[in-house]
Amino acid sequence: MPEDVNLEIFNADPITEDVSDAAPQAETGAAPKKYAPLDAAAESQAHLSAEMKSIGEAYAKALKDGAPAETQPRLDYAPYRSSVLRHPTKDLHHADPETIELYSPAFGHMDVHALESDLTIQHNGEPVGERILVSGRVLDGDGRPVAGQLVEIWQANSAGRYIHKRDQHPAPLDPNFTGVGRCITGADGSYSFTTIKPGAYPWKNHLNAWRPAHIHFSLFGQEFTQRIVTQMYFPGDQLFPLDPIYQSIVDQDARDRLVATYDHDLTKPEWAIGYRWDIVLTGSKRTWTENEAFGTAGDESE
Ligand SMILES: [Fe+2]
Repeated sequence: MPEDVNLEIFNADPITEDVSDAAPQAETGAAPKKYAPLDAAAESQAHLSAEMKSIGEAYAKALKDGAPAETQPRLDYAPYRSSVLRHPTKDLHHADPETIELYSPAFGHMDVHALESDLTIQHNGEPVGERILVSGRVLDGDGRPVAGQLVEIWQANSAGRYIHKRDQHPAPLDPNFTGVGRCITGADGSYSFTTIKPGAYPWKNHLNAWRPAHIHFSLFGQEFTQRIVTQMYFPGDQLFPLDPIYQSIVDQDARDRLVATYDHDLTKPEWAIGYRWDIVLTGSKRTWTENEAFGTAGDESE
């Protein structure tokens, strides 16, 4: 498994100031400009939910007053505690793409094999969990298919556990599931994976914080420097309103674009449930993506 994926980095940032009583700034929608409390994991879900609700209400009011819709996550989103200190505060450093390509990661030693899109056949036995098919198309802003794209995914197993030294929460590892796969989009921009539905898992943003089930996606574009990373969610997850990473995208339409839809035509009898999810690279309907260079809200660590 590549070392640079599958990172479960729990909140270990140095924290300097207690703001457990800090009220969200409902008037402006801006996140409180304070640091997380000393022990962020002790905060209640109710406290976090109130903060997120307040920010959401302020955004809705701003929309009503004519503010433009936000399609990307807020970098400074206080309810996502560890992002407070690590979100970028300066403009991007513009680097020479040709130089970057000299030390960017390689795809691997071999061409992508068709079987690498099936995460359920990488070991001697069948992985435990609900077998699913995840298919969709990669599209540009005008709806045209983007062919020949390297699509990589990584995810937790059905119990919500990653194979990573930083993920030590008491859920079982599955000896028959690594949670990493890749494929190349076809001429119509389509991709397809066979995998196991990932479980929700806890993270230490606050007390009783759980991430909704999700699959991490990476697309490389035509060059390494175009790589984008995002997450796909499953419809109807009860954790959506509670999750600061999902909520850091304050626009509901933009959030909805991260949620796959159940597709009965894709579902195979006696075999697997099908989900469909398209990825739009540009334009007003573009899929939310993470900031690769700086590790922003919703980065691949969670
Ligand atoms: Fe994750």
